Amino acid sequence: MFQQLARLPDDSILGLMARFRADPSPDKVDLGVGVYRDLSGATPILDCVHRAERLMLAAQATKSYVAAAGRAEFNEGAGELVLGTASPVAAQSRVRIVQAPGGCGALRVAAELIRIAAPTATVHVSDPTWGNHIPLLGGSGLKLAKYPYYDAAAHELKFAAMLEHLDRAPAGDVVLLHACCHNPTGADLSLEQWREIAALLERRRLLPLLDLAYQGFGAGLEPDVAGVRLVTMSVPEALIAVSFSKNLGLYRERLGALIAVGAGAQEADAMRSQVLQIARGIYSMPPDHGAAIAAHIFADPVLRDEWILELMSMRRRIEEMRALLSRHLRERTGTRDFDFLETQRGMFSLLGCSSEAVARLRDRHHIYLLGDSRMNLAGILPGNVAYVADAIASLNEPAP
Ligand SMILES: Cc1ncc(COP(=O)(O)O)c(C=O)c1O
Repeated sequence: MFQQLARLPDDSILGLMARFRADPSPDKVDLGVGVYRDLSGATPILDCVHRAERLMLAAQATKSYVAAAGRAEFNEGAGELVLGTASPVAAQSRVRIVQAPGGCGALRVAAELIRIAAPTATVHVSDPTWGNHIPLLGGSGLKLAKYPYYDAAAHELKFAAMLEHLDRAPAGDVVLLHACCHNPTGADLSLEQWREIAALLERRRLLPLLDLAYQGFGAGLEPDVAGVRLVTMSVPEALIAVSFSKNLGLYRERLGALIAVGAGAQEADAMRSQVLQIARGIYSMPPDHGAAIAAHIFADPVLRDEWILELMSMRRRIEEMRALLSRHLRERTGTRDFDFLETQRGMFSLLGCSSEAVARLRDRHHIYLLGDSRMNLAGILPGNVAYVADAIASLNEPAP
């Protein structure tokens, strides 16, 4: 059966990681992989997670199954974080929440749900978008299209073109929106722009699929979901794929949730029942370890406050590195060409250079970015910022 099977090329991010590991240079800098790093360059376990994990293990009496919907207390806490404690949509009993294996699990289950309900719908994703959106959503069999989003050379949103594209999308199509900290551009919609998008979605009868993977990394837990809340209050139906990989640092525990908003309570129940059946057919039940930790943190005011502080310090570190790198680049180039790094949000920005320049940064300076020039600002440290700025500034100079 498998003799004719073609060997696929290595995943580009995993390939980049392997090249970075094999690079013997003491100067090497990893700006490729999308994980948070602290001042020592490590991806730490949060203190609140350590403490909650110990409490959780001490209280755990069984490893028996939980449920296809996951842990109820976690789902409830996740819903409150995203929609707020006074959500009008929740008050109308239109919200159902199912735990999922990471944001990726939630996105894939969402795509399967859409395919069951509307097999001919097209999902419109931003150009550019996170690379994994394509297999996660397209793998369900849904068609994908791109809407204009960002001009990498000018470092600005193409908002008018985005509106124009979405205004022409057929009713019943799906629009994938990054809730905050857009990956890979770091360029987010303003609140006013969210308002316009929400009105357009409602008017054109388009379904929002909101990808929320960085709540707390942009401006804070509440401001980062302002757009999500605006949209969910404006439209009859919505899907939100939530990830706790970054904001709780639980990456490998695979913790996420799918929030389904239905037109009414009955419709929401139907969506939930379909989601559970999809989950049973793919992974049966989500892993509980991360959900039990998160449930402890959500419920305990002391742990929760500690989490909010730790999250703030991660956010501040990224903001500081953004400011530091753009200052170094201002000094080194004598231009304000890199000021955009300071104003963009979250871990990522596109440097906006060619793939040859990305290769030159890697081969000559041992600085690793993704091929589209996406850089992870959490890989910048006070100790490497001058080196990185020098290398970026030298891209415009003739080769020695
Ligand atoms: C835009 C975006 N969505 C979703 C995810 C999902 O992450 P995970 O499945 O690890 O929770 C990520 C992670 O990198 C992401 O960048």
